Amino acid sequence: MAKTLNEIRTTFLKYFEKNGHTIVESSNLVPNNDPTLMFANSGMVQFKNVFTGLEKRDYVRATTSQKCVRAGGKHNDLENVGYTPRHHTFFEMLGNFSFGDYFKDRAIELAWNLVTKDFGIHKNRLYVTVFNEDDEAFNFWKKITGLSDDRIIRIPTSDNFWSMGETGPCGPCSEIFFDHGDKLKGGLPGTKDQDGDRYIEIWNLVFMQFEQISKDKRIDLPKPSVDTGMGLERIAALLQGTHDNYKTDHFQKIINATAEAVKKNQIKIIFQVLE
Ligand code: SER
Repeated sequence: MAKTLNEIRTTFLKYFEKNGHTIVESSNLVPNNDPTLMFANSGMVQFKNVFTGLEKRDYVRATTSQKCVRAGGKHNDLENVGYTPRHHTFFEMLGNFSFGDYFKDRAIELAWNLVTKDFGIHKNRLYVTVFNEDDEAFNFWKKITGLSDDRIIRIPTSDNFWSMGETGPCGPCSEIFFDHGDKLKGGLPGTKDQDGDRYIEIWNLVFMQFEQISKDKRIDLPKPSVDTGMGLERIAALLQGTHDNYKTDHFQKIINATAEAVKKNQIKIIFQVLE
């Protein structure tokens, strides 16, 4: 089973490739095609014009591991960085995309099978959320996963309606949460303690249906589509048995190498002072 961060990334991309998705490179961090964003804030940014029908590709399903920065704009994690073990300004977002091909039921089925079978996460540790009005998603979750009603939580706020920015593609979403256990503080999504460390969002499935044109104008997309995003560092932490992203293999390598470099430099500085 995938364990290192690199193996987890490969498992994700190969799983979706096996399920008919084209593996597409991450776009540049500074988007080539988008004057509304300074940095790519999610995997869907490079596909924005494909969702809206302005651009055609020779595939209708894609999967990526996208370099993202969330340090400003609508999706800004800056205030959380350093205060939680799971937020970063820079991170990689794993995603699968359907451009007018499959929609809610297949998106849920693909996500559920990867999480519970290939990643081997036990169903008893999982909860999902749906946008309050999205009965269809609620019923698919129930039918496909067999989760009980109390594990499919309806959320009435913008937490379950995803938009890229002030304008652009958007739609209701479902999030998959992992329960790290009662050794950590935190409440279920929708409760006042939801921002604790216990119940962690690991995957967001957006059912792209609309395009926000301006503050007051929203139109339908040409075809219902799917955009999902899973934080690579978060899923790596979980699969490596920790809730702390900084304890994963990748971060540990960087932290140890930095410590080593600093130690050497300190010695160099001491010698320089002594000379
Ligand atoms: N765009 C959604 C997000 O960033 C899903 O990828 O959460």
